[in-house]
Amino acid sequence: MTVILDGKAVSDKILLELKIAVAAALETTGKDPGLAVILVGNNAASRTYVEAKKKACHEVGIMSFEYKLSVTDGQAVLEKLIDHLNADAEVHGILLQLPLPDGFDEQAVLQRIHPDKDVDGFHPFNMGRLAIGLPALQPCTPAGIMKLLEHYQIATEGKHVVIVGRSNIVGKPIGLMLVQNNKNANATVTICHSKTPDIGAITRQADILIAAVGKPEFITADMVKPGATIIDVGINRVPAETKAGYKIVGDVHFEDVYPLVDAITPVPGGVGKMTIATLMATTLQTFRKQEGLPSA
Ligand code: GUN
Repeated sequence: MTVILDGKAVSDKILLELKIAVAAALETTGKDPGLAVILVGNNAASRTYVEAKKKACHEVGIMSFEYKLSVTDGQAVLEKLIDHLNADAEVHGILLQLPLPDGFDEQAVLQRIHPDKDVDGFHPFNMGRLAIGLPALQPCTPAGIMKLLEHYQIATEGKHVVIVGRSNIVGKPIGLMLVQNNKNANATVTICHSKTPDIGAITRQADILIAAVGKPEFITADMVKPGATIIDVGINRVPAETKAGYKIVGDVHFEDVYPLVDAITPVPGGVGKMTIATLMATTLQTFRKQEGLPSA
């Protein structure tokens, strides 16, 4: 029987624990953790993610401050907002929803976020620390995947993990996490991307396959090894005869792959939920540090 890696159930449990921890932190400090979420432009998927993040904040007792900028506001206004939020004592975490519209210098903005408020772990300070195995604020999706594997006691030591996709948000950081020399990692990691010839020959070697490529149902049954664990990071909108006019599918062809494998994440209800729960956990982490509480 294939195990469905239930990101919703695991994240609900994490959110409940966080709610208690946030209440305790409020009791000690008299302060609420605060997360600033910045959305630039009108990308429909980004709007949905920002709403989901706000809802999770509400659920656990984190204050959310939303900043909506239009494309015409431009780089200088966005950078000024970051400076303001860096200095705001009520804001413990700053999340800039990506991707930014064309014309913005994404790296310049990310590098302007104070590393202590960098809840996405995208600042080179945090990414660098992650690379060399030091404690760091970690990107939410990869950290969420690590928690999901841990929850289901899926060992990574000595396993061949194949990652499809080399983004700074998922592919590279999950590779860095899994290759570390520690008990929750110690994997052999291969990262494939758009210039990798014959990707299937490599994905078929994977004990754990992580699909983070952003292409609907890219991973087909012939690309997986029977008995593998499949982590599907994709959240793709495809046209469908639904009320919204679309449906959400992952980067993996779920129906065809499911019967072949030992474990698989569903879309929705898999990695996406873990990303949001991890963002909440990281925001509490930044709050604790900034308010002088010991790390949990
Ligand atoms: N866009 C897609 N995934 C992410 C993420 O994890 N963080 C941010 N800020 N933007 C994203």
